[in-house]
Amino acid sequence: MNYQDFFAEELTRLKDEGNYRHFAELERHNGAFPAATCHNGPGEVTIWCSNDYLGMGQHPKVLDAMHEALDRTGAGAGGTRNISGTTHDHVLLEAELADLHGKEAALLFTSGYVSNWAALGTLCSRIPGLVVLSDALNHASMIEGIRHSRAQKVIWKHNDLEDLEAKLQAIPANQPKLIAFESVYSMDGDIAPIAEICDLADRYGAMTYLDEVHAVGLYGPRGGGVAEREGLMDRLTVIEGTLGKAFGVMGGYIASSAALCDFVRSFASGFIFTTALPPAVAAGAAASIRHLKESIAERQAHQDRVAEVRARLDGIGLPHIENPSHIIPVMVGDPVKCRFISDRLLADHGIYIQPINYPTVPKGTERLRITPSPVHSAEDIDRLIGALEALWTECQLARLPMAAQ
Ligand SMILES: Cc1ncc(COP(=O)(O)O)c(C=O)c1O
Repeated sequence: MNYQDFFAEELTRLKDEGNYRHFAELERHNGAFPAATCHNGPGEVTIWCSNDYLGMGQHPKVLDAMHEALDRTGAGAGGTRNISGTTHDHVLLEAELADLHGKEAALLFTSGYVSNWAALGTLCSRIPGLVVLSDALNHASMIEGIRHSRAQKVIWKHNDLEDLEAKLQAIPANQPKLIAFESVYSMDGDIAPIAEICDLADRYGAMTYLDEVHAVGLYGPRGGGVAEREGLMDRLTVIEGTLGKAFGVMGGYIASSAALCDFVRSFASGFIFTTALPPAVAAGAAASIRHLKESIAERQAHQDRVAEVRARLDGIGLPHIENPSHIIPVMVGDPVKCRFISDRLLADHGIYIQPINYPTVPKGTERLRITPSPVHSAEDIDRLIGALEALWTECQLARLPMAAQ
C-alpha cells in the first residue's frame, strides 16, 4: 500500500464532501479577550464562538494563581498520579470540585473528553451485566467511552422521557443500569429534564451520569451547573464537568461518592497511565472555581449579554433556536451559505464565528453557534448585528417577522 497516497486520497474525499476542517490560527489578547489576532486571516478579530464563556481565561485571580504555582513548583507534574504526579495542587482542586457539587469526592482528568471516556468506559465495563442508556445526542466522548466498554447499550430518543421509560421497562428489574445524559446540549442549547430523569432512575433502580460540561460555572448559585440550580445534585450518581470552558483553564473531572471515585481512580486506564495536569493548571482552575462560587456578577452579566444578543437578532428577524441556555444557534440551513457567511464575517468584519455544518449537526440545520460573554462590549454587539444583517441580505436568506425594537 502507498500510505501517503492513501492519506491524500482520504483528505481529498473529505474536502469534496465539504467536511474538511480549516483552523483559524488565533492569538488571544490577554486582558482584551474577545479580541485576538488571526495569524492566517485578517489580523485583528473579535471571537464570538469561544467556550471560555465568562472570560475566566484572562481573569487576574486565575492568572495570578497560575503564575504563583509555576514559580513555586515548576512546569509539569512530572508523572502519572501514581508515580510522583499527585501534587498538593491536584488534591486541593479535587476538594474544591467535590465541594462545588456537594459530593464526597472528585477525580481529575486531563480533559472533559478524557473524563467521560475513562469514567464511562470503566463503569460500564467493570459493573457485571450493566446496561447503559445513552441519550441520542450525547457527546462523542461519552459515546466513545461507552463503545470502548463493550457494555450493552440502549440509545433513547433525545430528552424523551417516554422513550427512556419504555427502554428502562424492557430491561430486567435486577439488571444494573446507568442513564448517561447531558444538562445543556451544546449544539441546540436545550436542557435535559434532569428531575424527571432522576425520578425514572429511582423507579427503575438505575444510576445517573450527568455531563455538565456546558453548564458548570454558568448556572446555580455557586456555579455548580443546572443540577445545582434545580437543587438536584444529590440525586445524581455522577456529575462530570470540564475546567476548560466556563472555568477558562483545562482539565476534566467527575464528582461522586468516595467509593465510586476511588473505583474509577483504581481501574480507569485513561486516569492511571497518563501524566497528571501541570500543577499550575490545577491551581488556576481552583482559583477560577473559588471565584465563581462566590461571585455571581459574571453569571449575571453573561445572561444579560445573551438576552441582549437574542433581542437584537429578533430585531432584524434572524432565525435562532429559542432555548433556555446561553448558546445561540443562528440557523442558516445551507452548508455553502453557512461557510460563506463565516468566511466573510472573518475577512470583511473581523468577526470569528466557526460555521457548524454536517456531520456535527444534521444536514439542513447548518448554523452559526454564537456564544456571547460578559467581555463582549455593546460596540462588539453592534458590529456583529450589522455584519450579520448585511450578509443575510447578500445571501438572500429568509427572515422571521421582526420584533419591535
Ligand atoms: C458535552 C461535552 N462533553 C465533554 C466535552 C469535552 O470536554 P473538554 O473540551 O474539556 O475535553 C465537550 C467538549 O466540547 C462537550 O461538548
